Amino acid sequence: MSNGLPTLAGNGVILRQLGADDIQRLFEIFSDPEVMRYWSRGPFVDLSEARALLGEIDKGWREDGFYQWGVTIAATGELMGTTTLFRIDRDHRRAEIGFALGSRWWGQGWGTATVARIVTYAFQALGLHRLEADVDPRNAASLRVLEQLGFRREGLLRARYHVAGEIQDSVLLGLLSAEWAPP
Ligand SMILES: CC(C)(COP(=O)(O)OP(=O)(O)OC[C@H]1O[C@@H](n2cnc3c(N)ncnc32)[C@H](O)[C@@H]1OP(=O)(O)O)[C@@H](O)C(=O)NCCC(=O)NCCS
Repeated sequence: MSNGLPTLAGNGVILRQLGADDIQRLFEIFSDPEVMRYWSRGPFVDLSEARALLGEIDKGWREDGFYQWGVTIAATGELMGTTTLFRIDRDHRRAEIGFALGSRWWGQGWGTATVARIVTYAFQALGLHRLEADVDPRNAASLRVLEQLGFRREGLLRARYHVAGEIQDSVLLGLLSAEWAPP
């Protein structure tokens, strides 16, 4: 069933709607402790959590504040992870972004390609003028992806998350549409 999320192609990736056929792969990605090291929740332990994620994604689209795409390699169709625009605020024309790829696809430029594509969609198609990301200061790969695309560090939010017994700080980064220069 289509929830109406647009398919976005560019930079060698295709961002597309997720479906029931993707549950096993989603579980594989989100149950990996390496991928979830700096996430705002612990790793999935049961396939039902991947199923529930799909339900949340459909609900998010209907309520117009939360868009989560599957990230695939354009050449092969392989699903590598997901990327999200959430807390989409039409009045203030801003949103937050998130992204996660399975660890076997790291270090090949896919993270940067994915974030570049979603940023272009947010600014050009949705007409937003500000994007935000909030990242654990130890999450060097995510900070690198964002900063090399022009996001600037705007503040350190102390003890913002409590995940699996660990209190985590958070760096808030922002990018304005006027600053956006697609790679
Ligand atoms: C963040 C993430 C998507 C990056 O994906 P990726 O495909 O490896 O990113 P890229 O290959 O585009 O790499 C981007 C840059 O980060 C650098 N980088 C990658 N891993 C790094 C690390 N562990 N430490 C420092 N820099 C790193 C790369 O060298 C590259 O920089 P360069 O262009 O100067 O060489 C991936 O690490 C991930 O899914 N992490 C887990 C989920 C997560 O934490 N999401 C963010 C929550 S806010």
